[in-house]
Amino acid sequence: MNQDLRKVGVVGAGAMGRGIAQVCAAAGCSVQLVDSATDALARAIDSVRDDLSQAVAKGRLSQADADATLSRIEPVSELKQLSGCELVVEAIVEKLEVKQALFKELEAIVPADCILATNTSSLSVTALAAACASPERVAGWHFFNPVTRMRVVEVIQAPRTALEAVQALVSLSKRIGHRAVVTSDSPGFVVNHAGRAFVTEGLKLLAERTAEHQVLDGILRTCAGFRMGPFELLDLTGLDVSVPVMESIHGQYYGDDRYRPVTLARTRLLAGLLGRKTRQGFYSYEGKPAAPPS
Ligand code: NAI
Repeated sequence: MNQDLRKVGVVGAGAMGRGIAQVCAAAGCSVQLVDSATDALARAIDSVRDDLSQAVAKGRLSQADADATLSRIEPVSELKQLSGCELVVEAIVEKLEVKQALFKELEAIVPADCILATNTSSLSVTALAAACASPERVAGWHFFNPVTRMRVVEVIQAPRTALEAVQALVSLSKRIGHRAVVTSDSPGFVVNHAGRAFVTEGLKLLAERTAEHQVLDGILRTCAGFRMGPFELLDLTGLDVSVPVMESIHGQYYGDDRYRPVTLARTRLLAGLLGRKTRQGFYSYEGKPAAPPS
């Protein structure tokens, strides 16, 4: 497998896919970005352009580098246009059967040594790989939101993932300026597994009315050095993403009480209080931009 990945396909141009496309393009890769929703690509390109413009305005990036990054992202409408990719990473909907169908389709398009990576936060990379003809080329490449600022990424090795695929992803992670953490495939991998404790305990304390969410966030920011407290993070990610992740991890650990989700989160999800994306989560974002703070 190629250890110097330069041609990258990204499937799914939502919050994560557009960020992955941006960091890869900024590191000099040529990126093809695909989405099944017609307006998603245009929105993704606009969002990358805005983010780069902000970096230029703040003096963190030259206009020439911003232009070069944007020019390396090609929005494409069909998967078959990814036929020359050395790596394809998916950031589509968090449903195993949909991701499996995508990888099967991609295997018929991409070269035999192209790595297929998944940005899943909670699904089994092993099960995704098992549906492929060549499971050795399948690995997890799990970023955090927002991708351009959270400079850590998990590289997940499933039992049948080739070491060369892991090494190539670690090398690319370094090139894009992310710290790569190699993990084996287990529910929630490392970061979401460890982070569960803060989110779940925070939700329990709120549900029991021990303390308000602002207080809990403030404690973790001030005393524990967190950049964001659990409720700020839940609002940024959105309960539509976080609640299924909590439920999936709990299920994969056979209902272990340590991972039991708190019903308050599902109730708020059902009420549509998703977070920044609905302008109302644990905090109110009325009149504020929906983008994450820089
Ligand atoms: P999103 O909903 O913002 O974007 C998903 C995009 O994929 C949408 O534009 C949708 O049109 C497109 N899509 C859906 N099915 C498709 C298909 N079959 N083919 C092509 N495009 C398709 O979702 P987001 O938040 O970017 O998440 C994407 C993935 O990344 C999920 O697996 C999620 O669990 C994972 N993830 C999300 C994080 C987050 O904080 N949002 C953090 C880490 C991982």
